[in-house]
Amino acid sequence: MTTRILFVCLGNICRSPSAEGVFRVLGQQAGLNLEIDSAGTGGWHIGKAPYAPMQAAALQRGYDLSGLRARQLGVADFDNFDLIIGMDAENIADTERLRPAGNTTPVRLFTDYAPETGADHVPDPYYTRDFDGALALIETASNGLIATL
Ligand code: 4NP
Repeated sequence: MTTRILFVCLGNICRSPSAEGVFRVLGQQAGLNLEIDSAGTGGWHIGKAPYAPMQAAALQRGYDLSGLRARQLGVADFDNFDLIIGMDAENIADTERLRPAGNTTPVRLFTDYAPETGADHVPDPYYTRDFDGALALIETASNGLIATL
């Protein structure tokens, strides 16, 4: 069975494309059959590749994000994915606002899969500039999520 997972952040140029790229590699290494994508709750960056400093930091850890392009979250995503994962509480709230009536797709906070870190969100490196720290947290949460699948 294929598990379809959508990662969501605000711009879809830093955190969620990183989560997509990391989870694709780690999930494949774990032998999981996955369909993975990412989207932004905002539409400012539609069609753009991930932010260059984010791509560079990801590549340092072995994740190639260069082929990814930003898109905006839409109502069809609730039918097209089995699990939607947001990077912070605002992502979760913005995602829930789009949920179609009757839809029950789980929407979860990524850091819930990394309780050992004590983090309650993935800080946005677009603002913090800590690209490597975000990737480390994304790797930890990815491994936690994989353990649940
Ligand atoms: P992301 O970071 O949500 O992790 O992709 C952002 C990047 C850019 C903007 C917002 C968030 N922006 O408003 O330009």
